[in-house]
Amino acid sequence: MTIGFFDSGIGGLTVLYEALKVLPYENYIYYADTLNVPYGTKQKNEVKKYIFDAAAFMASQGVKAMVIACNTATSVAIKDLRRKYDFPIIGMEPAVKPAVERNGNSHKRVLVLATQLTLKEEKFKNLVSKVDNEHIVDFLPFPELVEFAEKLEFHEQVLLPCLKDKLAALDMSLYGTIVLGCTHFPFFKDVFRQLLSENIEIIDGSVGTVKHLKRILGERHCSKDGNGEIVFYHSGRRVEDKECLDKYSRLLKRLNDIDE
Ligand code: DGL
Repeated sequence: MTIGFFDSGIGGLTVLYEALKVLPYENYIYYADTLNVPYGTKQKNEVKKYIFDAAAFMASQGVKAMVIACNTATSVAIKDLRRKYDFPIIGMEPAVKPAVERNGNSHKRVLVLATQLTLKEEKFKNLVSKVDNEHIVDFLPFPELVEFAEKLEFHEQVLLPCLKDKLAALDMSLYGTIVLGCTHFPFFKDVFRQLLSENIEIIDGSVGTVKHLKRILGERHCSKDGNGEIVFYHSGRRVEDKECLDKYSRLLKRLNDIDE
């Protein structure tokens, strides 16, 4: 049986990349909602409908677990999805908790970058009010990075000025951690690294999400029944086109290069 990974576009690959490292003996479906990306700038109800279409597709494929490899989709739909489906559904949230824990004693601040929709949702507000007792968390929507990722625009000549511009109003010396709260953003970790002082750490939620997935598969005794095969779908349509498949291989390779 396969594990379903779902995102609006290519962002979920940053989580799948982590899963392939930790759980190589699984088979995967990767569903990118290419017809409807981006989600983060749309209305909640519209996005919710797209997510339910994707989940219905995953159910029709008989997945043994589904990872919502998208912070935006998790924040608008995870509760309702779990009510509807019996298979385990693993979601993502911006890694605010570990970031606050790391900065508690250093008096540094935490900056969360995510989509507008994620930052607007109750789920995010509740998370911050639960863990941010010292009021050290700031946040900023960064939809431009989703657009750049979907256009496969990774050139630093284009990205560095955009990042500089976005962070210009902030005094970055106050920050100890930047949280990449959208799964598209780790594609730009190398560019962030160039811009930020080495004292600022950059974290995202993919490691925690995959740990959680591994634990759930273990508890259900349904792990290790594959060989790392990935079948890609675009809004429910199987991807067979060589150019597209090559694109996904290149993106996974990019993540590997950033990792090294
Ligand atoms: N990758 C998504 C996330 O983690 C959403 C990006 C978008 O479609 O706006 O939030």
